[in-house]
Amino acid sequence: MNPLKSISGTIISGFVLAIVLMFVLGTTGTVNPWQFWVWMHVLAGITWVGLLYYFNFIQVPGVAKALSEANDGGPGPAAINKYVAPNALFWFRWAAVGTWLTGAMALEAMHGGEGSGVVAAFTFAEGFRAIGMGAWLGTIMLFNVWVLIWPNQKKILGLDGQTHDADVIAKAKTVALMASRTNTLLSIPMLFGMTAQGHGMLF
Ligand code: HEM
Repeated sequence: MNPLKSISGTIISGFVLAIVLMFVLGTTGTVNPWQFWVWMHVLAGITWVGLLYYFNFIQVPGVAKALSEANDGGPGPAAINKYVAPNALFWFRWAAVGTWLTGAMALEAMHGGEGSGVVAAFTFAEGFRAIGMGAWLGTIMLFNVWVLIWPNQKKILGLDGQTHDADVIAKAKTVALMASRTNTLLSIPMLFGMTAQGHGMLF
């Protein structure tokens, strides 16, 4: 049985290999929740932001090109919109939720002691300012996904089961695109905040 023949088998094998490698490296004998949540968080985060970059760098230009060539006998974007986009959007929006929740768990784990790490980060408490900036930007990005991108994509792709006028679709496309571009922009300082917490400021 080849685990690489299914995506779940592939992912399970990845976790099994990681656990084997932990033992090879030598464990401390106690569970480290901070490392666990950051690990899960980075996995969710790359799924989310990887798909965000896929939409911005590949799918949007690809659909635009397919639309412009459809009249010259090209296949048009129907297959992308029907078979690729809904699945990509599913992983995209739920990875966004997973990233936020695992980030919050990582904040609690790294805080230790009295009080809440989430409160410390979102109020820019001493020692939590870089991660607080990243957490705020990530939260704005999560808002954009669920409030601006997903409802408008449902209209554009006809996933809401309704038919809309061309001007409604045109407006939905503009709002979804601007929110998606905003998230691509915000991802750069957001990742700076995430990494600056553990690796220091750039200068
Ligand atoms: C928007 C998408 C996000 C992405 C792609 C992302 C990515 C990352 C990455 C790559 C790291 C590892 C940094 C390192 O170890 O050097 C990290 C750490 C972390 N992130 Fe995020 N993050 C996101 C959102 C959030 C949010 C919304 C929160 C809080 C609610 C959060 C909380 C944390 C925490 C607590 C750490 C650990 C920092 C440390 O251990 O020093 N992240 N994140």
